Amino acid sequence: MSADGLVKDGPVKVGILISGRGSNMQSLVSASRAAGAAYQVALVASDKPDAAGLVWAKEQGITTFALSPKGIGKPAYEAAIDQALRDAGVQVIALAGYMRLLSGDFVSRWQGRILNIHPSLLPFYKGLDTHERAIAAGDAKAGCSVHVVTEELDDGEVLGQAKVPILPGDDAAALAARVLVEEHRLYPQILTEFVRR
Ligand code: GRF
Repeated sequence: MSADGLVKDGPVKVGILISGRGSNMQSLVSASRAAGAAYQVALVASDKPDAAGLVWAKEQGITTFALSPKGIGKPAYEAAIDQALRDAGVQVIALAGYMRLLSGDFVSRWQGRILNIHPSLLPFYKGLDTHERAIAAGDAKAGCSVHVVTEELDDGEVLGQAKVPILPGDDAAALAARVLVEEHRLYPQILTEFVRR
C-alpha cells in the first residue's frame, strides 16, 4: 500500500473524520503545526453534528463539515462527505474515533489513502470494547494500531503499533487512558511517515 502520487513539494492535505471528543484529531492537528510538518489538516468532518471535537477544530480556525446520515441514507451521506473532502483539496483521510464503517465504494474512491487508529494490538480485538476484552482474556499487554482502511472492519495493513502493560487492578477506563497516551504519540508519527513515503 502506498501513497504514491501525493504532492511532494508542500505539506500533504489531510482530512480528519471524527464522531466524538476528537483527542486523536487534536494530537494530529498539533503535530501538523510543527515547523516543517509533512501534512496540514485541511478539513475536520463528522457524522455527529454535536461532536465535541468539532467545537475545538472550529476554535482552531480549521474548516469543518458536519452531516448526519440519518434521514438521507448512507450513499447520499458518503457522497456529501466525499465532496467536502475534495472541495478542501484533501489527499489523505485520517479516521480518528470515527464510529462508522465506510462503504466499499467510498474506500475504493480513496484506495490506500485512508488511515485509522484502533485501540488494540491488531489483528486482536477488532471492533468495540477492546480494553474489556483484553483484560477479560488475561492479556499482559494492550496497545493501539494505525492501519490502512479497507472495507473490512479494522482490517488492512498495519503501519505501526504501540504497546502498554496491563496492570493488576486495571479496569477498561484505566487501560484506555494508558493506551490513549500512546495513541496521541503514535498517530502523528505514522501519518507523517505515511505521507512521506
Ligand atoms: C480512540 O481510542 C480511538 O483509538 C478509537 O476511538 C477513540 C477515539 O477517541 N477509534 P478520540 O475521539 O480520538 O478522543
